[in-house]
Amino acid sequence: MIRDYSSTQKVLPGSIKIFFILFFVIFAVCSCSVSPTANLSTSQGSPASDKRIKLGEKLFFDKLLSADKSMSCSTCHKPEHGFADPVEFSQGVRDNQLARHTPHLMNLSGGSSFFWDGRSPSLAKQALDPIKNPDEMDLPPKQMMLRLRNDTEYPDLFNAAFPNSGLKLVNVGLALAAFERTLVADNTPFDRFQAGDKTAMSASAQRGMKLFFSPKTNCSKCHSGNNLTDGKFHNTGLIGDDLGRAAIDRVGNFQMRPYPFFQTQKAFKTPGLRNIAFSAPYMHNGVFKNLKQVIVNYNAGSQDPESYGISLDIRQIGLTDKQIDDLVTFLQEGLTSPRTFAAPTTGY
Ligand code: HEC
Ligand code: HEC
Repeated sequence: MIRDYSSTQKVLPGSIKIFFILFFVIFAVCSCSVSPTANLSTSQGSPASDKRIKLGEKLFFDKLLSADKSMSCSTCHKPEHGFADPVEFSQGVRDNQLARHTPHLMNLSGGSSFFWDGRSPSLAKQALDPIKNPDEMDLPPKQMMLRLRNDTEYPDLFNAAFPNSGLKLVNVGLALAAFERTLVADNTPFDRFQAGDKTAMSASAQRGMKLFFSPKTNCSKCHSGNNLTDGKFHNTGLIGDDLGRAAIDRVGNFQMRPYPFFQTQKAFKTPGLRNIAFSAPYMHNGVFKNLKQVIVNYNAGSQDPESYGISLDIRQIGLTDKQIDDLVTFLQEGLTSPRTFAAPTTGY
């Protein structure tokens, strides 16, 4: 018995060691993938995935993907504007105005729902939508595939990027998504400040940061995590007819008070705020021309404090003018990456 006991004693430290090693390995891997400096480079490692990113970039900037070859993804999602459009509403190939503001595309990689109402579950699926949408690029999938097949470059590029499947519709989405995942605004003054460099942000931006993460403003209740979004849907009290998420849930219209907080009427996806300084105007309807207007609106408890289903975290805040400016400085200075994004000038 004693021998048995001592032998388990001997075995135990070894297995504990393995357990701890495993634990630290898993911990290291997990913490890498959520660290603010993850996804730094545009490369995802293997040569095939690098080719996928390059192919996705080419597709993103290629007007071939629209019915009359007049527009690419980048016509609306402009690199120099955080991949958003500096107008309230972009126009599609028929010169029609779209119903919602073109959102920025920064740091979308961790997201699980896309569009202002979250109706698309992945970047790869989302990417095919604007191409075929008659209001946007208006190119049906069959026609798009024909164009790509007849192109002098695309068949080879698809074969290299997707060695097992080549030029296929799903791969168009996967390549575009691979490129979009490289649009990362990292190494911001805020990141450097958090990593210990106390000189990375001005005093005003530091005060703004404290306000942003304080219960006084509640900003970080919704704008949380590395990308400053909870990925959820909230009614922030903006005026307008757009039902937002409720049109997808199909519950918003049927739910009655006293449970307004369970419903999603006029709720929109919380946008991430990295590189937000570039993508004015703001909100799903582009109603605010600059960041100051956004914060002045939050400070006032928003446009329609009585909006049915308005989030409980939206209410008058009582910031002074100086505090408003500090918050703007945090968003503008603190969250802007030194990385620049531009349309490619070289070949593929
Ligand atoms: C005509 C302008 C226009 C074009 C062209 C366009 N988009 Fe968009 N994009 C929009 C608008 C507007 C929305 C928001 C629509 C909504 O939420 O209902 C959007 C939303 C998105 C989103 C969701 C972002 C988020 O935070 O959920 C992604 C990703 C995106 N577009 C990628 C693309 C890609 C890839 C292409 C090219 C294949 C493209 N877009 C072409 C206007 C455009
Ligand atoms: C209840 C959740 C919630 C709170 C609290 C909140 N936001 Fe937002 N924020 C959102 C949502 C949702 C949107 C998009 C609303 C829309 O378009 O209808 C948004 C939009 C924004 C935008 C515009 C982003 C863009 O791409 O158009 C900025 C900037 C912003 N919020 C900053 C702040 C700041 C600063 C605070 C604190 C004063 C704050 N938010 C508090 C949920 C919230």
